[in-house]
Amino acid sequence: MHQTLVTNIHQLINVRQQTSLPKGSQLAELRVLKNAFLLIEDGKIVAWGEMDKMPPFTNEGIDRIDAKGASVLPCWCDSHTHIVFAASREEEFVDKIKGLSYAEIAAKGGGILNSAKKLNAASEDELYNAAIQRLHELIKLGTGAIEIKSGYGLCLEGELKMLRVIKRLKETVPIPVKATFLGAHTYPLEYKRDHAGYIRLITDEMLPAIASEGLADYIDAFCEEGFFSAAETETVCRAGERHGLKPKLHVNQLNSIGGIETGLKLNAVSLDHLEVMNADEITKLAKSATIATLLPSAAFFLRMPYQPARALIDAGATVALATDFNPGSSPSGNMGFVVSLACIQMKMLPEEAINAATLNGAYAMGLGDELGSITIGKKANLIFTKPIPSVAYLPYAFGTNLIDKVMIEGKFV
Ligand code: NIG
Ligand code: FE
Repeated sequence: MHQTLVTNIHQLINVRQQTSLPKGSQLAELRVLKNAFLLIEDGKIVAWGEMDKMPPFTNEGIDRIDAKGASVLPCWCDSHTHIVFAASREEEFVDKIKGLSYAEIAAKGGGILNSAKKLNAASEDELYNAAIQRLHELIKLGTGAIEIKSGYGLCLEGELKMLRVIKRLKETVPIPVKATFLGAHTYPLEYKRDHAGYIRLITDEMLPAIASEGLADYIDAFCEEGFFSAAETETVCRAGERHGLKPKLHVNQLNSIGGIETGLKLNAVSLDHLEVMNADEITKLAKSATIATLLPSAAFFLRMPYQPARALIDAGATVALATDFNPGSSPSGNMGFVVSLACIQMKMLPEEAINAATLNGAYAMGLGDELGSITIGKKANLIFTKPIPSVAYLPYAFGTNLIDKVMIEGKFV
């Protein structure tokens, strides 16, 4: 048994006796303990409280860390990323500056197909080496759990290669990693006029192979005009369900085409993006148990309207925040920036944004019992900040790196 005692924590942020999924107005409840201690045993939180009520802890061999006024919060839980890719796409970024739209770039053979061509030309080792480097950078930025999608293979071998890379990441990095199969990201060129053929490839070849190697935890589809219709999304998800994969879906990014209704009918764990939402969809999503995962850095990068966070929260929805880190629409995995954007552009309160980026992100990966709050029994995946006067200072001082150290399972990385 190994114990670490952290003392003199200026603010211990997001302490909870037990964990449940905060919905609607509960999202603003963020308990902060001033002048606190935290006891960690074998990588897990075993006690926390106020310094002046701290038991003596005289046991031998206990490691002592004086936080010296740092604030401590649970690591970010980034529940939506695409960090396995072969190459960046800054040439499209420049095309966009010159006025081309996302759809026009996709029509030029850019976009997802561009990433797929490069991914299929790269070896598994090359992809793994690039992805692990990204992942280590993200851990330094405070990410303590992550979901990673496939979807740049778009053929049996390519999708398996991506998911095998994600499996290797799961085995080698110290943070929890969840894998999502996104074969239904776009139609490869050879199937542009044969949607049924590509869907058969997904359901009859990719999914059985993925399931037999145990390569995925979730299934995803890009439900969007020019990509997968609501009916096609449902077919793919039903097949995934038969292999034990629950849906986490890309819906309502550019258009509302029935993805919300379909996702709710499928009991999706989360419905992600949601830039384009009508009042009826907001109400339906708010009444459900499905998490609304907002990706404001994608809206920022694509110069799109932000997701209606306020309307969703005020209607009672369960909102999470994630980065959507990918080479096309959000080439950044900085959760701190996402939290700032959520407050600055979507009018989320700092407390709401922090809950959405920690606890609700954990729930959006099925990790709500393990991560996302300062709760006894949870993993000690923690951010130690530089001195900050208040919780609101974190999103307020956008672009400033306020992270001093990151702890994963009780050890500084
Ligand atoms: O989440 N919207 C679909 N997929 C990604 C973008 C992928 C890409 O452009 O490579 C997203 O934004
Ligand atoms: Fe995405």
